[in-house]
Amino acid sequence: MSVDLRTRYMGLELKHPIVASASPLTGSIESLQRLQDAGVAAVVLPSLFEEQIEHEEMATHELMMFGAELSPEAHGFFPEMQNYPTGPERYLKLIADAKQSLSVPVIASLNGHTPGGWTSIARQLQEAGADAIELNVYFLAASVDDTSAEVEQRYVDLVASVTRQVGIPVAVKVAPYFSAMANMAKRLTTAGASGLVLFNRFLQPDIVLDDLEVSPHLVLSTSDELRLALRWIAILRGRVDASLAATGGAHTPEDVLKLLLAGADCVMLASSLLTKGPGHVDTLVRGVRAWMTERDYTSVAQMKGSLSQQSCPDPDAFERANYMRALTSYTSEFV
Ligand SMILES: Cc1cc2nc3c(=O)[nH]c(=O)nc-3n(C[C@H](O)[C@H](O)[C@H](O)COP(=O)(O)O)c2cc1C
Repeated sequence: MSVDLRTRYMGLELKHPIVASASPLTGSIESLQRLQDAGVAAVVLPSLFEEQIEHEEMATHELMMFGAELSPEAHGFFPEMQNYPTGPERYLKLIADAKQSLSVPVIASLNGHTPGGWTSIARQLQEAGADAIELNVYFLAASVDDTSAEVEQRYVDLVASVTRQVGIPVAVKVAPYFSAMANMAKRLTTAGASGLVLFNRFLQPDIVLDDLEVSPHLVLSTSDELRLALRWIAILRGRVDASLAATGGAHTPEDVLKLLLAGADCVMLASSLLTKGPGHVDTLVRGVRAWMTERDYTSVAQMKGSLSQQSCPDPDAFERANYMRALTSYTSEFV
């Protein structure tokens, strides 16, 4: 019996649920080609950052002002800002080249935190050929004056400001640190998000004792991280009008299967591909197919979400009751 691994993510037809997440592996055509040859179902390009866009615009603006200051007539020689080839030309070229050389969907990624003018770049990502956009909102509310209501509104405004520019689907990659994650997910979809990518991983800085320095610390994930996304995908499946992508801690076929059972439409990988190489995609696809065949599942569509909170026999397992049970039943040789 053959198993139908196809899945839909924000309207994109994927041949199976395994997608290459944004990482250096998706940053060049050669590497993207290797991922496609290895069988990946879609790719998310590394992020173009708000700071990169604004930096280039500022640099161009300063250049124009410098020229204009030399002589008032010089104004006429400088083209209008919107016609000037400023901004992330290399990124747009990467999208265009990727679209030309790949047959799998190409998702561009924007990374920012303010709903400013930089978001108009979204239209150019669409024009360059991106099949969808992933908006990574990386914002740490470190000011003691930032209220949660303001922070949440900032996310909603940012999503609205990107989605209103484009006709292609936009997914939002968010961190899990909201007081009311489920409501936030609903508000993001109401603001225009067609997909949610759960979850963004904030880098946790570390202190290097030898140098007495604070260093940014990028640690690759392990399968232990999987359960954060697992819980929220299970809770949100069927409750928000958006596709759900899992990211963070998927390394084995079992990890992928758990996320699909919870309700993920696709599973995005960075760490496992960075450590094991693109060939790992095939190991995962084979493993998923073998398990499904053994369990008589005929398709991913049939299996997807069958252990979401709405469908599983013990919905409390995803909420407080599970926490209480886990704490009170814990044993160790010293207890
Ligand atoms: C080296 C590296 C670079 C990354 N660059 C980006 C990026 O540009 N944009 C983004 O949204 N996520 C980026 N990520 C996050 C990954 O896309 C992914 O969401 C995260 O690593 C969790 O998935 P994993 O457990 O499979 O690694 C990066 C991760 C790594 C390890």
